[in-house]
Amino acid sequence: MSNYHIKHLEEYFQVYRKSVRDPERFWEEVAEEHFVWRKRWSNVLSWDFAKPEVKWFEGAELNITENCLDRHLRTHGEQTAILFEPNSPDEEAQHITYNALFEKVNKMANVLKAQGIEKGDRVCIYLPMIPELAIALLACARIGAVHSVVFAGFSAKALATRINDASCKMVITSDGSYRGAKTLDLKAIVDEALLSCETIEKVLLVERTKNKVTLKEGRDLWIQPLLDEADGFCEAVSMNAEDPLFILYTSGSTGKPKGMVHTTGGYMVYTAYTFKNIFQYREGDIYWCTADIGWITGHSYIVYGPLANGGTTVMFEGVPSYPDFSRFWEIVEKHKITHLYTAPTAIRALAKENIEYVEKCDLSSLKVLGSVGEPINEEAWHWYNDNVGKNKSPIVDTWWQTETGGIMISPIPFVTPTKPTYATLPFIGIQPALMDENAQELKGNQVEGRLCIKYPWPSMARTIWGDHDRYRDTYFSAYANMYFTGDGAMRDEVGYYRITGRVDDVIIVSGHNLGTAPIEDAINEHQAVAESAIVGFPHEVKGNALYGYVILKEYGESRNFDNLKKEINQQIADKIGPIAKLDKIQFVPGLPKTRSGKIMRRILRKIASKDTSNLGDTSTLLNPEVVKEIMDNAL
Ligand code: PRX
Repeated sequence: MSNYHIKHLEEYFQVYRKSVRDPERFWEEVAEEHFVWRKRWSNVLSWDFAKPEVKWFEGAELNITENCLDRHLRTHGEQTAILFEPNSPDEEAQHITYNALFEKVNKMANVLKAQGIEKGDRVCIYLPMIPELAIALLACARIGAVHSVVFAGFSAKALATRINDASCKMVITSDGSYRGAKTLDLKAIVDEALLSCETIEKVLLVERTKNKVTLKEGRDLWIQPLLDEADGFCEAVSMNAEDPLFILYTSGSTGKPKGMVHTTGGYMVYTAYTFKNIFQYREGDIYWCTADIGWITGHSYIVYGPLANGGTTVMFEGVPSYPDFSRFWEIVEKHKITHLYTAPTAIRALAKENIEYVEKCDLSSLKVLGSVGEPINEEAWHWYNDNVGKNKSPIVDTWWQTETGGIMISPIPFVTPTKPTYATLPFIGIQPALMDENAQELKGNQVEGRLCIKYPWPSMARTIWGDHDRYRDTYFSAYANMYFTGDGAMRDEVGYYRITGRVDDVIIVSGHNLGTAPIEDAINEHQAVAESAIVGFPHEVKGNALYGYVILKEYGESRNFDNLKKEINQQIADKIGPIAKLDKIQFVPGLPKTRSGKIMRRILRKIASKDTSNLGDTSTLLNPEVVKEIMDNAL
């Protein structure tokens, strides 16, 4: 397989050089050698970052499920495609073979069709980490419907916003969701959301927890009886390479989530190619990514990337702490996991627990470890390397984003020498640039700046659903002819990249992107609140936690502040979800503002981080006196 499976460093450099010298030719070769197309492209790439417009494999036709399922049936039909490990270790794991998955996807696709879903319709999927979640994605893709997965930890309001933004026609959900010892009532959340959604015609329900649910006549249907009746084959719809495959929401600097639109051909090629190389996945390996399919990591590296390579991908329904902190390691032992791809926040949480939890399990099957979602700190990196990888399984610290669709900067295991906290080298075809404050590219090594990408890659998001102007303004206006990532990075003396964190108003808490604006909007809706500002501060496990500075309409002694704090957090949980709750809330008489009325978050960040020895330039502040007051009462 030429260029498809890189095996040593010299080969990486060779292939990399080729990929940037003639990207069109390079990706064309990958596309033609390793995928099934119904019609060939007329043009590999056309692009203009000023518009912005990017098209890969224009004119080509395909169906991604034929690449993820049909073509493996002959060679891998009885191999496990999805290995489902339930929330409770007492419930048996399910090994769903490619043959079985094919049938399940086809049946669900037929059910969607029978319920009125057509090519181009948007289907919202709000499900726990059960096989039906992956099946629902693929069923949509089979018939050309655009899936919009909403993480099943989001609140009714957040769900409604996303359904309405994409005018979804259907929701696929379940009666409930198991999360460790808890059961969440997903259907009730959907019912509440749908009070403010007019476009939903049907709700399909998967039975999981046997929670009591109420069905709305004419709208809600249990899916199982429909699946039982459905035919086991559904003709795959021909999709243009640039037809949308899915929408996935991510937080931005303003209140409204951004519905990133990913298209079919380029996304498939890039996620499959990166999966193969960045995990060095080989026949027979058992690969486990612990993310939820509600996030991009799950889309690209639980579902599409592994299945496009005919791999075995594990789906875990539960949490690392249930029934105890051994759960992850027991799963590794039980299923002889070869690849473990997880997040720094999980590593830090598990590293705090007794090492016995790890040591009592046999982790000798592991070959490659992965990290994603936020910078991995040195301590967590070493703990992961020493105790889980036993110093023999390389850690791939993979940097990428919802917007990039696939991994962009990462070591290749057994190929790129790793370095703690460094995502190391750009992946094949990726051309990063670091920019200074004057929008000049920083050339050479040992530089630090804002991370941009200079050239299109196949899996980049093509637009924001319904708001192309925002897509341009957010990603293509800061630097001419470049995609701006929103991250800062440094390049060391050998050209390795280290991601230093967000440079905008997005804060990454436990690996989840949270925009400050939507949280502030939620707080400000509380009747007692006049204004608020949110910043991040370092947290041992979560990486960052949220600190809220809140101005009350009446700042009186008589208030019960503890209750008010609870109410504010409840308000956030209702509007966004529990992941966005604040760790600390300080009631303040005012916020430091510039003369033009902008909140000086830099100062608030320093106070929250207890780093007040040098507050920097405060001469432009309109109300410097408020800074001292906030500092004196900081939490
Ligand atoms: O700040 C970077 C951080 O996560 C952001 C993207 O978040 P999201 O769209 O939710 O996708 C997460 C999973 C791909 C980035 O802008 N980030 C992601 N991976 C890393 C990282 N920061 C440092 N190192 C990483 N490996």
